[in-house]
Formats: sequence, C-alpha cells, structure tokens
Amino acid sequence: METIPAHDVDRNGKADLVLAAAQRAAAYLQASRRRGVYPSDQALLDLQRFPRDLPAGPTAAAAVLAMLDELGSPATVASTRGRYYGYVNGGTDPAAAAAAVLVGAWDQNVALPVLALVAALRDDLAARWACELLGLPGGAVATFCSGASIANLTCLLAARDALLDRAGWSVDQRGLGGAPPLRVVASAEIHASVNKALRAAGIGRDAVVLAPTDEAGRVVAEEFPAVDDRTLVLLQAGNVNTGHSDPFAAIIPAARARGAWVHVDGAFGLWAAASPAQRHLVAGVELADSWATDAHKWLNAPYDSGLAICRNPADLRRAMAFDAAYAATGAERALTHLGLQMSQRARGVETWAILATHGRAGIADLVDRLCEHAQHMAVLLGQAGADVLVATALNQVLVRFDDDTTTDAVIAAVQADRTCWTGGTAWQGRRAMRISICDAATTGDDIATSAAAILRCWHSRRI
Ligand SMILES: Cc1ncc(COP(=O)(O)O)c(C=O)c1O
Repeated sequence: METIPAHDVDRNGKADLVLAAAQRAAAYLQASRRRGVYPSDQALLDLQRFPRDLPAGPTAAAAVLAMLDELGSPATVASTRGRYYGYVNGGTDPAAAAAAVLVGAWDQNVALPVLALVAALRDDLAARWACELLGLPGGAVATFCSGASIANLTCLLAARDALLDRAGWSVDQRGLGGAPPLRVVASAEIHASVNKALRAAGIGRDAVVLAPTDEAGRVVAEEFPAVDDRTLVLLQAGNVNTGHSDPFAAIIPAARARGAWVHVDGAFGLWAAASPAQRHLVAGVELADSWATDAHKWLNAPYDSGLAICRNPADLRRAMAFDAAYAATGAERALTHLGLQMSQRARGVETWAILATHGRAGIADLVDRLCEHAQHMAVLLGQAGADVLVATALNQVLVRFDDDTTTDAVIAAVQADRTCWTGGTAWQGRRAMRISICDAATTGDDIATSAAAILRCWHSRRI
C-alpha cells in the first residue's frame, strides 16, 4: 500500500493517484455491465463499513481511494449501462466521461475567461453549438449551469426583471416591494422545478393561472388564458411523464405579440429539435424568449450540467450582472455575468467533447435511437396486455398493470429483480410505471431483456 502522507501527495504522488483512479474507474465501468442495475443487499450492507468518525489524523490517499472503490463502487446505482430507466437520468457519453477526467485534473474555474482560457473557449463553443443544434435564434446566449432547475430559475429571474424593466421598474434599484404585479400563466402540467423557481423569484401561487392540458399533458391552445405585457408564460417541451410537448406555434406568437415573456422548460424535450425526424414534435419552440435544458439528460453529459438560454443577451445580463471591481472584465462572455454562480467547474468542456465527437448527424441519431427504443418498449409491453396510458412520445413510456395496487407491486418487483430499474408516478389520478430511456448505451437487446423482466414481474403476480 502507498504510504505517502496525505499532505505530501500533491508533490509526490498526485499523478500516480489520478492514474490509479482512472484504472479503477475503467474497471468499474466494465464490472457494472455484469451486475444488477440496483446494488445487491450485500453491497448496501457493506456501506456500513465506511468509518463514521472523523479521522483523528492523516491516512494515505491511496488507501482512501481503495476504500471508496471497494466499498463504494459495488453500491452505486448502475445508471450508465443502458438499463436504468428511472427519473430522466442520462448515461455518460464516453468522450464526455473521458473529458471529465481531464477537466478534474485541470481544475479550471470558468467564472471569468482570464481564469480558464482553454475551458472558456470550449464552453463558448459548446454553448453556441447547442443553440445551433436546437434551432434557437442566432443572437441567443446560452450559459452552462448545474441543471434544468437552476436554468429555469435563471431564466425566470431574467424574465421577471425584463418584464418589470419594461414597466419602468428596476428590480436592481428598487427590489420587489411595491413593484407592479406580474401574472403567470403556466401549463397545468409544468414541472415542479419551475414552481420552485417561481417561489425563489418571489412570485407566489396566487399570481399563477393554470392553462388547461389534455390527456397527454399538453396545453390546450384554444383554452389558453388571456395574457398581457405583465405576464410570464410557462410552457414545456417534454412532459416528465408523457414526453409530449405544448403546441408552441399556436401559443407563442400571440403571447409575445401582447408583450408577454414566454419561457420553455425543455429539460430533455428540447433535444427533439436536434433531429430532423423529431423536430415537428416541438415546432415553434424557437419562438420563445427563454429556454431551460439539460446536457446531463438526453445529451449524456456527466452531472451536473444544464443550459439557461435567453433570446436577448441583455435580459440575462441585467438579471445576472456581477458588480465587483476585482471581477471586471472586457470579455464578451464571462459566466459570472451570465448565471447565478461565480466560481464553477468547466462543465461546457464535456458538452463540447460530446458535440465535437458526434457532430450534428450523431446527435440526431442519438435522439432518434432513444425515441425508437421507447416505441419498441411500448409495443412489447402493450402487445403483452399492459395498458400503455399515453401514445409514446420522445423517450418516455407510461404504462400501467391491471390496477393501482398491481402497478405499484410490479414496480417494486422490477426494482428488486435488478435487470433494469423503473420508477413510479401518478398520471391523471392513476398509478403508473414511468420508463424513461435516456442512456445512449441502451441497445435493442437491453429493451427486449428489460421488457421481458417487467412482464415476468407482472405475470408472477398472477400465478
Ligand atoms: C421537464 C423537466 N424540467 C426540469 C427538470 C429538472 O432538471 P434537473 O434535475 O436537471 O434540475 C426535469 C427533471 O427531470 C424535467 O424533466
């Protein structure tokens, strides 16, 4: 065992330690394909062997790494091997996983370009390429952040301040007390992270009018409430349960013509725009004022990585300006002036690596493949008699087995079986299994094997 004292590792052993970690990571990736998706009971029990007390003194870093790998690696949820279908969890693209190793070694802080020259350039390109792939307006600005929740918050702050600015009220100068009231018209199916963002932006439920939605969770354009120039409209590309998107083209032009700000939460669904075959599902989404999306979902960037995007860069800068003499910069793009964080890791480098590796055609193929897998899964389960609740859209399958009790029992049985992992939800008052296919590593065989396991868990309850 390596005996270099912890405080001395930096000078003497850092490179060796990082190499050892990379070797362990590679072994982990290979081993994770041979075990159940959810960790075994023994692996979970072994977690108790991690010492609970703060160590009194130093331990060799190699020993800490070994403990982390030997006790920790078997207890992970194997979410990058193609059979994890919970929440909307992307896997990791190989180029991005490898780039993340370099990004970790670089330890660049992309708050300001002067701190991180290479990383800032990659970040800038990745943000521009993402907007281009998503078909968003050429002048829009995109900024990396930790995920769609923070991207939603960032955009809502920009929207709030812009709407009030147009009403002659500076939030920067006068705060929110006494400000002209804003109204929100939100899809009744808007994601919970957007509600959380509204709360953080100082906009309470009383200001929110819900727009009615249909059986697939899409806003009904004909019943959309009236909006004006004090209204923030909240739509979504990709309902977290059904994958369906709002009818943007029918709503956005009229709302913007009346002066409303339209924000779209497209955490995963916005990526439909990157595929010529799926683009029609989000037609008109490019007409909005702001968009939130994730790189760590459909694009398979490592955690945590999202993008806040604004049509008018000045609106984002107004809300996010960072006023400190020591951070003043002449740079056109500085993340500390475009988002909530100052210091931050170089997330954009991993997305750059993905886009540089796959190009436009590769990303379109990724989007199409996951959509095809979802359709395939729905067909296999539907043909066997399961109730596919909503026509499958994008990468989401919503399915039910007999009744609420049976559905929950099948979900529990699938999780215990460990062939794959699916979660539960409620859809329009009924329990359902959510199957979210978000890992580029998923193959047709994974879908067939997983469908067979789900059906086996269902049928075993009927014997
Ligand atoms: C539609 C939608 N919006 C927002 C989020 C939140 O994203 P994040 O977990 O990256 O903050 C999710 C997560 O699943 C989502 O599906």
